Amino acid sequence: MQLIDGKKIASEIKKEIAGEVLKIKENGGKVPHLAAVLVGHDGGSETYVAFKIKDCQEVGFKSSLVRFEDDVTEAELLAKVEELNNDPDIDGFIVQLPLPKHISEQKIIEAIDPKKDVDGFHPVNVGRMVIGLPSFVSATPYGIVELLKRYQIETNGKNCVVVGRSNIVGRPLSVLLSQKGINATVTVAHSRTANLEQVCASADILVAAIGSPEFITAGMVKKGAVVIDVGTTRVPAPETKSGWKLKGDVKFDEVAPKCSWITPVPGGVGPMTRVALLQNTLLAVKGW
Ligand code: GUN
Repeated sequence: MQLIDGKKIASEIKKEIAGEVLKIKENGGKVPHLAAVLVGHDGGSETYVAFKIKDCQEVGFKSSLVRFEDDVTEAELLAKVEELNNDPDIDGFIVQLPLPKHISEQKIIEAIDPKKDVDGFHPVNVGRMVIGLPSFVSATPYGIVELLKRYQIETNGKNCVVVGRSNIVGRPLSVLLSQKGINATVTVAHSRTANLEQVCASADILVAAIGSPEFITAGMVKKGAVVIDVGTTRVPAPETKSGWKLKGDVKFDEVAPKCSWITPVPGGVGPMTRVALLQNTLLAVKGW
């Protein structure tokens, strides 16, 4: 069994991006500028947005954080989206999800200019991605594909099972993996899949994007499979400083010995998701 070190690869890509920023500066070009909109004070969202800002600083991007309280109205948020759409200094922006119940996430996403939608959530970007046109691809699927490429993991003709059909991970990843150049044969499994255990055990490449800690057990994994764990559930851990730790969707200790390759949690997919947002922001400056 070998570990897929997302932290190491993400750090290499960050260096490449920082190098590109230096070149842009030398040539008097536009320094990429990412804005993040954060509503409320959800612990997870606060952490993710803080990481996004820190990542920007580390590669030399400009960044802006726009904060609203939980009681912001949908109209106020839409007005901010419009302002960011029209701000020539902002190359790309994200609205951190989830949003409070009284705001339609879909309405907000669809208000974002697709050319600034570095999350790749707008239907125009999703549609372009599906038919193989240049687009922003949502960060986690982008990061996973990049990991498979950089580790030169064979995907041609492989049976790939993606467990989970979310709009931001499972569904777009299933499309990317079946595209020309990657050429996997993809099955999307979900909560209504019959014989889930056998379906998973047929996978050469198994992607767990369920959001249920330690859901994938040894009996669901073929010997020699590549296992990609997208899970990042916070579970209470009194022994840690923060009081919580991240748990993946894979029961790592019993699954890892059966794998050829496996991503750990933390340090696998997570850092790649973070760096993919930087890659998209750089692309936003160049244009797709
Ligand atoms: N919430 C969880 N993941 C994401 C993400 O990638 N982007 C945004 N905007 N919100 C999220």
